[in-house]
Amino acid sequence: MKPLRITLTKGRLEKNTVKLLEKAGFDCTAVKEKGRKLILPLADGKMEIVLAKAADVITYVEHGVCDVGVVGKDTIMENGSRFFEILDLGFGRCCFAVAAPKNSNFYSGYSAKRIASKYPNVTKRFFESKSMDINVVKIEGSVELAPLLGLSDAIVDIVETGETLRENGLEVVEEIAQISARLIVNTASMKLRKDEIETLASQLKAVIEQED
Ligand code: PRP
Repeated sequence: MKPLRITLTKGRLEKNTVKLLEKAGFDCTAVKEKGRKLILPLADGKMEIVLAKAADVITYVEHGVCDVGVVGKDTIMENGSRFFEILDLGFGRCCFAVAAPKNSNFYSGYSAKRIASKYPNVTKRFFESKSMDINVVKIEGSVELAPLLGLSDAIVDIVETGETLRENGLEVVEEIAQISARLIVNTASMKLRKDEIETLASQLKAVIEQED
């Protein structure tokens, strides 16, 4: 049988996922010593770790070329969910928030505000839910720059420690949603490889519950 493919978001979530897998008894040496390799063996070749960018984790799982994925709820909220989300992994905790320059009275006035974000869909949905007319400017990173440069009135971004906002004279105006890393599963794999996936999920769940 083909190895069960698990795609991980590279970077911060990758490190936490490796820690979690190790606590669940998996030898992650290949992942930790990966060099520039992107597909690494796990569990004596019964599984494979595929390292990818967050939005691509969702693409690979939706298309079924990976069975399981680890990705932030922020990416799920932005990119849709044609897959099963089966477990909150508990790490990568942060929140989606609207932030604006300190004391700028973001909600005052009647003209449509301009909002910068890496997450245009989340931004549009949030302001639609408040029946507020806004224009979104898509920014790829360091979104905090947009209000500082005068491009936008506010941003919608993830806030973890709040340090980036503080150091750049911005403040949270309103929280949108709590976020953490999730285990997602391709819909066909959930049927075809049910036992393997359920075993993996319960091993991870046992570690998470022990730590709570
Ligand atoms: C994220 C986010 C904020 C920052 C928040 O950016 O977009 O900029 O982290 O963290 P803090 O509240 O702990 O300061 P990331 O580091 O992923 O880089 P990017 O902005 O280039 O995407």
